[in-house]
Amino acid sequence: MAYKFLLICLMAVPAKALDDTKECKPILYDGKYHSEQLVKTDIYKPSSLAVDRKTNTLYYSYIHRTKEITYKTAKVNLRTKEYVELDVNNGFSITVDEKHHVAYIGGYKGVYKYNERSNKGHLIIPGVNIWNVFYKNALYYIEFLSQKIYKYQDGKSIPFGELSEIKVYYFVIDDENYMVYSNGTGIYGKQMGTKDTITYKKFDSVDIVRDITLDRNGKVYIATNEGIYRVNKVHENLEKVLEVQEAYGMAFDGENHLIYSKEDAVIRLVPQDCIQD
Ligand SMILES: *[C@@H]1O[C@H](CO)[C@@H](O)[C@H](O)[C@H]1NC(C)=O
Repeated sequence: MAYKFLLICLMAVPAKALDDTKECKPILYDGKYHSEQLVKTDIYKPSSLAVDRKTNTLYYSYIHRTKEITYKTAKVNLRTKEYVELDVNNGFSITVDEKHHVAYIGGYKGVYKYNERSNKGHLIIPGVNIWNVFYKNALYYIEFLSQKIYKYQDGKSIPFGELSEIKVYYFVIDDENYMVYSNGTGIYGKQMGTKDTITYKKFDSVDIVRDITLDRNGKVYIATNEGIYRVNKVHENLEKVLEVQEAYGMAFDGENHLIYSKEDAVIRLVPQDCIQD
């Protein structure tokens, strides 16, 4: 009897492995049903998600709450589930050079180049308080408070001429050299080397846009406080693909699955493989 009781108790222990916590709760994403996989829980405000798609490694930062608020960075191998906290001081914003599989981490003290072997960051751009970093053939960074974009190449930082006149909060360049960026008044698009600016959305708060990123096919996605949108360059508008309140960051994995974060978790959406009654 005692043995049987023990067995039942053991069976009642919920599966802890990440991918086993699939909830059979269909979520409509991009017009199709998906289920949620919890990539990470027990975490506070994870943001700045970035994926090295070759190794399927997800990087992100999160807030460490002690007496003072500090930022920490971590990575999860989406295949093996191996989780590592990066040994980088106050890393806040992350981007990946996919060609060379190098992560760059921006923080209060500048931009670090992450070394996978030592698990440490090497400070390559010191003395700048970084708001955001983005990699596309070169490293771009936005300086905090001035919100100015700089391009870093061959060991030198130069103001990014294309957007030198305005304060920028989030920005990407797609495969066709088309820029999508946000500032305090809206979301805009611009072909590099031209003057015409497309207005995708107007608002009056810097708190609306949470992240702008590219998927595996080079499409631009924008996370806002009330949903995730895809940029349609042909129709010059935004298509809502996911209804979600307060997303903090997003990225796409090697199979182009959407990963996004909310206040206390990082979630991956996969085409639904559970049967609903
Ligand atoms: C935001 O960017 C747009 C388009 O580049 C520009 O017209 C506008 O003045 C900018 N707003 C601010 C507050 O800088």
